[in-house]
Amino acid sequence: MRKQIIVANWKMNLSNIEAESLVDEILKATLSLKDNQQVVFAVPFPYLINIKNIIGNKNSFFVAAQNCASTKNGAYTGEVSSEMLDGIGIKYVIIGHSERRLYNHEDNKVLKQKVDLALESNIHPIFCCGESLGTRESNNQNTFVEHQLRESLFQLTTEQIKKVVIAYEPIWAIGTGKTATSEEAQEMHAHIRKVLSTQFGITTAESISILYGGSVKGSNAEEIFNNSDVDGGLIGGASLNATEFLTIIKSLK
Ligand code: 13P
Repeated sequence: MRKQIIVANWKMNLSNIEAESLVDEILKATLSLKDNQQVVFAVPFPYLINIKNIIGNKNSFFVAAQNCASTKNGAYTGEVSSEMLDGIGIKYVIIGHSERRLYNHEDNKVLKQKVDLALESNIHPIFCCGESLGTRESNNQNTFVEHQLRESLFQLTTEQIKKVVIAYEPIWAIGTGKTATSEEAQEMHAHIRKVLSTQFGITTAESISILYGGSVKGSNAEEIFNNSDVDGGLIGGASLNATEFLTIIKSLK
């Protein structure tokens, strides 16, 4: 059965103290997660070790980095390599978030290098894709997303792609309060799975988790997650509030 995953992307938010108490509150809650369900906290670099220690060996909870370097090591001031993340026991890393594509000019080619390095370090990339409003309005979203996947993921072997989690985040839905409709989400997720199946085969494509991100809240999570090709969510704003985030976790199928 495919993994269902809820990822909290805190972005550049929360103090160390706020971060600790948010995670404490979530871990204290009674959640009956199924064997194939996971919760991942993608936290700023300085909090990785601490949050990982707070989670301890609690089943089904993981910590992720929000980025990693596109080079292995060397004179790259301010960068953090996937090898370093592996060294502190990190299992997931977000790669290609639209904010990094936009503000840090990360293109598909650089993201391909990051994906390769993460996998080399045994870290699961959470690979983000998604179109802008203009692309959606001109009805080019399918071709656009396919291009992102081709350029950053199609070099992988079947064994490698199975370790990747895809997150579809339409840029126009991020932080805007505007979500894709349930139909739009399902349609794009099915398209992504079809694109993956052309390269890696149906069985492999069926095994890959595809998450939806963009203004997911407690009030709309269930409807979005109920779609057959939606395997969870990548949550920004609503992951900073324990009550909201717990409702989202409980909305998994
Ligand atoms: P919001 O949930 O705040 O729209 O952010 C989505 C996102 O960018 C998660 O990575």
